[in-house]
Amino acid sequence: MLRVQNLQVKYGDFQVLWGVSLEVHEGEVVCLLGPNGAGKSTIINAVSGLVRPLAGCLEFCGERIDGLPTHEIVTRGISHVLERRRVFPYLTVEKNLLLGSYQVRARPHREGSLSRVFSLFPVLRQRRNQLAHSLSGGEQQMLAIGRGLMSRPKFLMIDEPFLGLAPLVVTEILKIITQIGAAGITVLFIEQNVQLALSVSHRGYVLESGRMVVSGSAKEVLESALVRKVYLGI
Ligand SMILES: Nc1ncnc2c1ncn2[C@@H]1O[C@H](COP(=O)(O)OP(=O)(O)OP(=O)(O)O)[C@@H](O)[C@H]1O
Ligand SMILES: [Mg+2]
Repeated sequence: MLRVQNLQVKYGDFQVLWGVSLEVHEGEVVCLLGPNGAGKSTIINAVSGLVRPLAGCLEFCGERIDGLPTHEIVTRGISHVLERRRVFPYLTVEKNLLLGSYQVRARPHREGSLSRVFSLFPVLRQRRNQLAHSLSGGEQQMLAIGRGLMSRPKFLMIDEPFLGLAPLVVTEILKIITQIGAAGITVLFIEQNVQLALSVSHRGYVLESGRMVVSGSAKEVLESALVRKVYLGI
């Protein structure tokens, strides 16, 4: 579904990605792992057209998407839940969600999408008239994911969904990611906790200093020498 080939990105004179390749197949849940500053967000920001690559090729469902404007990339069926949630704090939960179905392709289905999101996150239904800033961190993350689903994506990218959340909430969001995958939406998410991320993923990639250093099935990544030594300390 998504093919990233030889992606290179520079911010000014500072090169961040040095020829990164990655694939996500339809129906998969894939995690992108790696330390702070490795360039993980830069990869998915390039996929959604927020960052322009220096070189490389981005394909979605067999068509080139690099160079397309972000709104066109969303129209093709890609949704991106940004790092640190970025909900609209002074809009209600419901308005935040509806803004996710603003595009022509999604708008006619907004009522159906809304009830689908509410059944996935019942707490959002309870809080639908509450301002987003008054939600807990976990609820704001659910809102951000829910808003991402409102555009009816085929492919959902989530940047660090567990950042700063309590273990119980993390467990809940892990379950939701599995449910989203089971509902037929392909998922690519970024995370730093290797074991946690691989527990719900079919495959994983590890990025370090702008280069892909490990990739494979969840089991292969978990058992790779580098991951065992550097990330698991065993
Ligand atoms: N807009 C920008 N302008 C200049 N440098 C940037 C910009 N965005 C990111 N960088 C730099 O590029 C590098 C990679 O950043 P990126 O956000 O992709 O990393 P990351 O793997 O997502 O890190 P984290 O886990 O901390 O979110 C970092 O050194 C960062 O400081
Ligand atoms: Mg990041």
